[in-house]
Amino acid sequence: MDAITGASAPSFSARVVAWQRQAGRHDLPWQGGRDPYPIWLSEIMLQQTQVSTVLGYFQRFLERFPHVASLAAAPQEEVLALWAGLGYYARARNLHACAIRVVQEHGGRFPDTAAGLAALPGIGRSTAAAIAAFAYGERAAILDGNVKRVLCRHFAVEGVPVGAVEKSLWSLAETLLPASPEMGAYTQGLMDLGATLCLRRNPRCGPCPLAATCLARAQGRQDSLPTPKAARAQPRRQAVFLLLTDGREILLQRRPSAGIWGGLLALPEGLDLLPRLGLADRELLPLAPREHVFTHFRLEIQPLLCRVEHLPAFAGEPGLVRLPLEEARQAGVPAPVARLLDELA
Ligand code: ADE
Repeated sequence: MDAITGASAPSFSARVVAWQRQAGRHDLPWQGGRDPYPIWLSEIMLQQTQVSTVLGYFQRFLERFPHVASLAAAPQEEVLALWAGLGYYARARNLHACAIRVVQEHGGRFPDTAAGLAALPGIGRSTAAAIAAFAYGERAAILDGNVKRVLCRHFAVEGVPVGAVEKSLWSLAETLLPASPEMGAYTQGLMDLGATLCLRRNPRCGPCPLAATCLARAQGRQDSLPTPKAARAQPRRQAVFLLLTDGREILLQRRPSAGIWGGLLALPEGLDLLPRLGLADRELLPLAPREHVFTHFRLEIQPLLCRVEHLPAFAGEPGLVRLPLEEARQAGVPAPVARLLDELA
């Protein structure tokens, strides 16, 4: 076989499909069926999140919301609380909005094309293609971060894979598609390759079905492809989190719907609450500072513990709730808040 052109090799897609059937992942709980609802749910959860993290959330969502209509009918707070800990909460708000649209505009049935799916909240082009490939066998190309890496390496695509380079990758991905009956195995195979062999660091080229024709491998450039984005300093933001407790209960506050953790219950931010609650002169005990990394910035959190005999009345303070400590822990709070409550217990 010609290592550069792959002239006598089976096609790119045939090798991905054969490898997926033999060595790919087959026992994930969202695999095997054709119902778009669990497929959609899993694909949204799997955006930016590993399979091992998603498994438990996927089961709990399906138990609580067995079909799209039950999800659409739920209050947003309940969806957010069940999502708590998965991060990227815009996904949960879009998930809920999407379920409502499917019920109100599509009679409770997901659109049966990638283009129709991509018109719904939270479903981008790649996710729409994945759902359509798995549920309907549609010949639609995926291009998530893992697939970009596989293609940039295999075809030695130069340049950061955004903008014009990304556009050419979409065209390339479309030319590689197999026939409809293979679309499920092919799409899953690309995902599995990116997640298990064509790793960002130390790719495992030995067992890779594409190794014989991979240009990055032939040129020894696996480490420099895809071309990395220029490193940009992450902005930092500071926040004070107030743990106001009488040892039994703690004050939580629902966050405004715009901004980080929108709509979630969390610890009150800042100290301006204290004078309004008649607690201006209380001693504040600083707990260990910590950092939480978001996509576009780092949040430096300074937790301050304020212990009181009795929690004050807080009528007129928007979104404040008082909850027993154990209940607060179960209330669907963001991960750093959950860790703080654990430390307090
Ligand atoms: N990541 C995104 N979609 C996935 C899927 N269907 N299986 C495994 N990992 C994935």
